[in-house]
Amino acid sequence: MSPVSLTRYLIEKQHADGRIKADLRLLIEVVARACKAISVAIGKGALGNVLGSADEENVQGEVQKKLDVIANEILLDANEWGGHLAALASEEMEHPHPIPHRYPKGEYLLLFDPLDGSSNIDVNISVGTIFSVLRCPDGVTEPDESAFLQPGSRQVAAGYAVYGPSTLLVLTVGDGVAVFTLDRERGSFMLTADNLRIPEDTREFAINASNQRWWQPPVQRYIGELLAGREGPRGVDFNMRWVASMVADVHRILSRGGIFMYPRDNKDPAKPGRLRLMYEANPMAMIVEQAGGAASTGLERILDVQPTGLHQRIPVILGSRNEVERVAGYHAAG
Ligand code: AHG
Ligand code: MN
Ligand code: MN
Repeated sequence: MSPVSLTRYLIEKQHADGRIKADLRLLIEVVARACKAISVAIGKGALGNVLGSADEENVQGEVQKKLDVIANEILLDANEWGGHLAALASEEMEHPHPIPHRYPKGEYLLLFDPLDGSSNIDVNISVGTIFSVLRCPDGVTEPDESAFLQPGSRQVAAGYAVYGPSTLLVLTVGDGVAVFTLDRERGSFMLTADNLRIPEDTREFAINASNQRWWQPPVQRYIGELLAGREGPRGVDFNMRWVASMVADVHRILSRGGIFMYPRDNKDPAKPGRLRLMYEANPMAMIVEQAGGAASTGLERILDVQPTGLHQRIPVILGSRNEVERVAGYHAAG
């Protein structure tokens, strides 16, 4: 069969099983086009004067990198005029971005982390873009923050791009997970894997171990058992990986299994986790579940969490089902 482009994949989804509407197809294509532009900017590196700090802070109190700002602008510019969105929200903007009145409005809400893993930009390690798509609630014509505060189970699509040795787009519209690789000569994302499945068992884990002294007892117990290896209660050796770009860590897990954890810890009581629910945890949880894995806060399924704020943080434990369930079991045991 001839290679399948993202456009063809989406059109076939639209026509064959009615899984997506034309507007959602357009939305995903526009996001993918923006990811191509971000990939080009990242690829220029020091030659494009895109590295380093932008000397601004975002709403999270984090110093923005130039590429955080560039990626955010690329996604905004690409998405605001097409008529497919009711509003957008981003890690890099305190409030939702309304669609300017001069443009038509659509029925979807788009949320994104324009540049994930920004501490890795300046050292030439993989970074990414994460996005989540919700439906604008019925009757809402000027969506504010409350329109976005829907549980992740209501997402109609989610995906991420990873800007690594190749640029990939990983996508779910709620019926499995597909991977597209950017063909730089063609300028198109081409389907390179479909119906991904995360192995239920794994011998590989990902956690920032420098936070160990602040972990809570269930996480201390779980990681302690993994580190004890063959001599410990698990009776086997485990391997550890930590890229510090969630996109890259999750992509490895999607590719060969594993468990990723950024749990709640006691480092800063004001922060119930490091990662943000709306544009990091929820889209990744949808993708992982769609690939047969599991995603939990430790206490509940991430996709069931009722959000209370656009930028709220949440503990994240996701990946191979049997390991995620084990960690949840240790939390339930107290
Ligand atoms: P962002 O660059 O969008 O702020 O996200 C970074 C996140 C995530 O990608 C990664 O898993 C985690 O932060 C890394 O945290 P540490 O710096 O604690 O390793
Ligand atoms: Mn991020
Ligand atoms: Mn980011």
